[in-house]
Amino acid sequence: MKQGKDAALLSITGLRRAFYGLEVLRGVDLTVRGGSITGLIGPNGAGKTTLFNVVSGLVPPDSGSIRFDGHELAGAAPEVISAAGLVRTFQVARGFPKLSVFQHLMLYGRHQPGEGLLPALLGTAATRRREAQLAERAFEIARLLNLERVIDNPASALSGGQKKLLEIGRALMAEPRLVLLDEPTAGVNPVLKAEIAQHLRALPARGISVLLIEHDMRFIGELCDPVIVMAEGQVLAEGTFDTVRADARVREAYMGVRA
Ligand SMILES: Nc1ncnc2c1ncn2[C@@H]1O[C@H](COP(=O)(O)OP(=O)(O)OP(=O)(O)O)[C@@H](O)[C@H]1O
Ligand SMILES: [Mg+2]
Repeated sequence: MKQGKDAALLSITGLRRAFYGLEVLRGVDLTVRGGSITGLIGPNGAGKTTLFNVVSGLVPPDSGSIRFDGHELAGAAPEVISAAGLVRTFQVARGFPKLSVFQHLMLYGRHQPGEGLLPALLGTAATRRREAQLAERAFEIARLLNLERVIDNPASALSGGQKKLLEIGRALMAEPRLVLLDEPTAGVNPVLKAEIAQHLRALPARGISVLLIEHDMRFIGELCDPVIVMAEGQVLAEGTFDTVRADARVREAYMGVRA
């Protein structure tokens, strides 16, 4: 079957997850179209990061379905999910401070099933070829994200914004079809924010769709279509940024008033 640009790449239905008896995801239903930059917004504690944790395999769901590109991924291990082409970043950047930008990118590019230790140790021709391809990809992504100048610097020496870019670069190294970005511009200055938006805008044309969580409404409005609103563990509204912004239920959710 032909996968059109508008086909659902990710379809989540009835996704539930509780912690200590408290339901944080209360039957989430949502779809991400291939080729889209979809925004995910909602008040603090709505369950957005938890949704990413469940979809990326970090936390298993209690029930529900996560179909990605025709595969059922609910409850699958993180490596299986990222190997299927679904990769996430973290709200608080993770990494290894002493490794350089280049080493970081290479590490996450290599972190794929089938990259056994033995072939690497034996240094076969195929392994060397793969390493060369990875290095090329690392440079390409560093260029794409304006990290080329600092590619040999340790991650700890990067600015806050550059760390955010490295986090995005890391996700891109895994050759994803969909990236889940958790607040990619939190704590980043407006100039760099605009730059990140520009980088993200270029991804769908490279075959990478985006689902991103952000609290900065201007950023969401300029970049995302559609925008999905979560509140209290469920999807409350979906539509263009202007539609959801005008939605009375969305306003109530942000005011902390129960409908
Ligand atoms: N591992 C866990 N154990 C217990 N409670 C959890 C766990 N993970 C998330 N929660 C709870 O789930 C709720 C939703 O948290 P989550 O981080 O998903 O919200 P969020 O929408 O990402 O909020 P924010 O915009 O502030 O990042 C919170 O009340 C949180 O305490
Ligand atoms: Mg969060």
